[in-house]
Amino acid sequence: MAELSAYLESRRVSFDVFGINQRAALVSLMKFTPDNMRLSLGGFYKIGQVLCSLETAKLKQREVEVLDQTGFFGFLPEKVNWGISMYGEQELTVEEVEYLRDYFHQRLRRAGAIKGKYRFAKRPQDEASPEVMSADIAKKQTVDILVAVIDSRCYLGLTEIVSDHEGFRRRDLGRPVQKPVISIPPKLARILVNLSGVKPGEILLDPFCGIGTILQEGLMAGADICGVDLMGEMVEATRRNLQWLSEEFRVKATGLTEKVIQGDARSLHHYFPEEAIDAVATEPILLPPLKDFVPAKKADLLLVKPEEIYEQALRSISIVLKNGGRVALVAPFVRTRPRGLKSFDIRRLASQAGLRDYIPRALPKMKWPLFPKMTGQEKVVRGIFVFAKS
Ligand SMILES: C[S@@+](CC[C@H](N)C(=O)[O-])C[C@H]1O[C@@H](n2cnc3c(N)ncnc32)[C@H](O)[C@@H]1O
Repeated sequence: MAELSAYLESRRVSFDVFGINQRAALVSLMKFTPDNMRLSLGGFYKIGQVLCSLETAKLKQREVEVLDQTGFFGFLPEKVNWGISMYGEQELTVEEVEYLRDYFHQRLRRAGAIKGKYRFAKRPQDEASPEVMSADIAKKQTVDILVAVIDSRCYLGLTEIVSDHEGFRRRDLGRPVQKPVISIPPKLARILVNLSGVKPGEILLDPFCGIGTILQEGLMAGADICGVDLMGEMVEATRRNLQWLSEEFRVKATGLTEKVIQGDARSLHHYFPEEAIDAVATEPILLPPLKDFVPAKKADLLLVKPEEIYEQALRSISIVLKNGGRVALVAPFVRTRPRGLKSFDIRRLASQAGLRDYIPRALPKMKWPLFPKMTGQEKVVRGIFVFAKS
């Protein structure tokens, strides 16, 4: 939601958010541009339009006939593979979900789609939360009935667009230089780019660019990019990856030699004029890979040097950033034994550098950091922060 809000704000598309649960959001948009959104957003799986809704209580009383009158079934070709995906289903019991599925099955038969196959959820352990995987929708041409339960109402629609999984995958595994241990997943890189608020034609800087994943996504978003890395090897890797990207995805990447610089993120004003940069998106991290969870004291020690670098880099970023420009960055959180999470006070460092929290319009009460979904096994976790220069 933070990404979507930042994306729509920067494109001046007016929108309202009617409700959010853990897995779905209900948004009304003045302008729906499915193709752009499919290619531009890193943090979503599916988007569909709401076709009808009913009170959850009605479903609980098995009174769903109201759906008969909504024209919901008019869309179907004769033969269709179909499935149901439930989001926010914890308000419903397994029986209620099954009832809804059977209802659709019968209605689809009556609508003439009898030859179609029902695609069962891939995860049978989640009986109450069937989900058609978004990658399958594209591959296997499946009509996906979306059900989102938000604030005691069930909203129903059909998936219209799914994330560009293939494009993100190619930009990760198809590029000439890959370093999975240090690089950020392209989808997360795109989320940072969108959170940075950079618009097409504006300058996006990644001062710890590594092999250039964030810059790749910046280029895809139409930004003019600049990168800095301390190591010549990384600078070369970024140039090669960006050159490859420009040919593979037909985006313009001219002057890479001048735009990807070997240098120190703590002295950006040596390479760029003051207030020359529109937005920054970066993942410095700077911790060695950890084999195990560490005690809190060890985590504090590990974080001393990174804190110093973040502090100096934030000051330097603030000098070259335009007023009102934003910095979307990842900071490290070390998982400690027995069950803790340690980092340094990055908001204080940002504030000392003249950067304050950016709050997306759709989420007035949100607090940074946001944590991407975790497996539980990570020893160091990414925390996402977004600051604006005031
Ligand atoms: C976590 S990696 C970034 C990876 C990048 N996001 C990607 O996907 O390829 C951090 C990078 O910062 C670079 N680095 C470390 N200290 C630096 C400094 N003071 N100035 C600039 N770059 C630095 C390292 O060489 C490394 O390539």
